[in-house]
Formats: sequence, C-alpha cells, structure tokens
Amino acid sequence: MTVLTRIPDIAMPLPADLQGFSLTPSTQSPRLLQMTFSREVVEAFLAAVADWPVQALEYKSMLRFRVAKILDELCGNTLKPVLINTLVDRGTGGLQVVPEGLDGVEQAEEMVKFATAVAHLMGRSNYDAMSGQYYARFVVKNVDESDSYLRQPHRVMELHNDGTFVEQDTDYVLMMKIDEQHMQGGNSLLLHLDDWADLERFYRHPLARREMRWTAPPSKNVAKDVYHAVFDVDTEGRPIMSYIDQFVQPKDFEEGNWLSDLSESLENSPAILSVPNPVGSFLLINNHFWLHGRDRFTPHPELRRELMRQRGYFTHASTLRQR
Ligand SMILES: [Fe+2]
Repeated sequence: MTVLTRIPDIAMPLPADLQGFSLTPSTQSPRLLQMTFSREVVEAFLAAVADWPVQALEYKSMLRFRVAKILDELCGNTLKPVLINTLVDRGTGGLQVVPEGLDGVEQAEEMVKFATAVAHLMGRSNYDAMSGQYYARFVVKNVDESDSYLRQPHRVMELHNDGTFVEQDTDYVLMMKIDEQHMQGGNSLLLHLDDWADLERFYRHPLARREMRWTAPPSKNVAKDVYHAVFDVDTEGRPIMSYIDQFVQPKDFEEGNWLSDLSESLENSPAILSVPNPVGSFLLINNHFWLHGRDRFTPHPELRRELMRQRGYFTHASTLRQR
C-alpha cells in the first residue's frame, strides 16, 4: 500500500487548496508529512497574539483555542481540516511541523504559543503532572540525576507510547525542540505500527490483550497504578498500542519474557525512522499507532537541549473506540 494510491481516513472534508502552509511527504517516510508554515504566516500569527504571554494561555484555557482560531484564519481556514484528518489517518498520522523564522531559543515563548495553536485546532492538551501546566518544558544536560530515561542523554530512549500510566486519553504527542547546544546525535526515533514486521506476531499472541499493571516513577507525580493491555483495536478494528518498557510491571515470568521479546523486536525494527528535529520545529503524532523514542547523543560538557511537549486528546475525530 502506498500513500499515493490509498484512500485516506477522512474525518471531515479537505480544502481544495492549502493557504499559508505546505504539506509534503518528509524525506524519512511518506507516512510522516512535513507541514511548513511560511514566514509571513508565522510573523502575522505572532503579531496577532503578542498581547498574550504564555502565562495568559496557562491561566485561561479558552485562549488556547483562540490562538488556534487566529492561526487557522491566517491560513484561510484550510489548516484545521488538514490537521484533524492527518492525525487520525492511519496511513500517515504524523507530522513534522516547521514554522519558518521561528528558530532561536530567545523565541521560546513564541514557540509555545505556535505549538499550542496547532494542537488546539484538532485537540486539547492534557494537564501535564510533571510541570503542573498544559505543556512541559524540560532541559537535557550532560549530567542527569533523574529517575527515568527522559533526561538521560547518553543512551537510547526506547520506543514507547505516552500516557501508559495515566487514565486520561493520550491521543496525540507533540514534541518541540526549543534549544540545542553542542548536540551530536539525539534524533527522534519513530516507528509506525504498520511498518513493524512483527506486529501480527505480537498482536495475535494471547498476552497481547491481557491487562497489565503500569506504574510511574516519583518524578511523574502520578501516584496511582493503571491497568490495561499492551494492544487494543481502533475504531476500525486495527491494532493500536499503549506500551512503555520502563513502566510496565509484568506479574510473572511469562509476561516479563513476552514483554522483553516485544521490546527487542521493536528496538531492532529496520523500519524505525531517525528524524532530526531542528530548533523551533515539532513532531506531532497519533500516539496510538506511532511509537516514539530518542537516539543516543555524544557526550559534551556544555551539551544543552531544551524540549517542550504537549499531550492531549482529539476533539473532532477519534482513533480510540468507545469503551
Ligand atoms: Fe514519550
């Protein structure tokens, strides 16, 4: 199945012409689309929202939708349907968003506003318990004393889905690069479930649908365990996943070894995409059929990387079936 001949999942009518942005397959994969906003639209957007600092968006949730509307209007209202459709389209479901001219760490506040606008055209970002806000900014340095691999630079962060240990639906994940100094390596790693050769083998296994226990380390500020299976099906009966190696608590030998086999298979998949994400750009993926991770970096004493994330639920279309 190729992207050109397949029929996309359409949640709402698509505009005939796009305005203010372009949409092309990325160099990594036809499943990952590159959405580039023109400098004019980015500048007009930032001027239009200049009176609202990010703090205003934090305090008044409604304004996140207002900045979204402003961005869509600058794109002749052609952006919203494209975002809604792309995020639930099984054949793609992933974007690298590049706002031209938004590429320096001194524009960090503007980056948060821009990403917020894009996310709130198709969803609503969840409360992030790590930051106490609807988004989280965090820094990766050469030395780290945290209790998970999130901020540890010199090793791979294995492929996973987000939201495995929370009860809220986590339909999308947005990962933005705010700053990068002395960084070599550290690309984002992405794997679309339908590109994973062993999907059928694991999805058909009896343990695929067994409820397992998921717990978070203390830094995540999530006290309660949650229970769900690694696999489920979407609205059309296609496999989706909710999995992370660090936080699943297998109850016995059988579960532990099946999970280890699964992890090994994912990490060794030749279909993993390695995506450099420049400062000011962000990845926006459907969290149910895309796994994400991060490649290792080369140590450097002055290494600094700052990231921003938002995770949330879809407001116009859905991948999760009704439960
Ligand atoms: Fe993640």
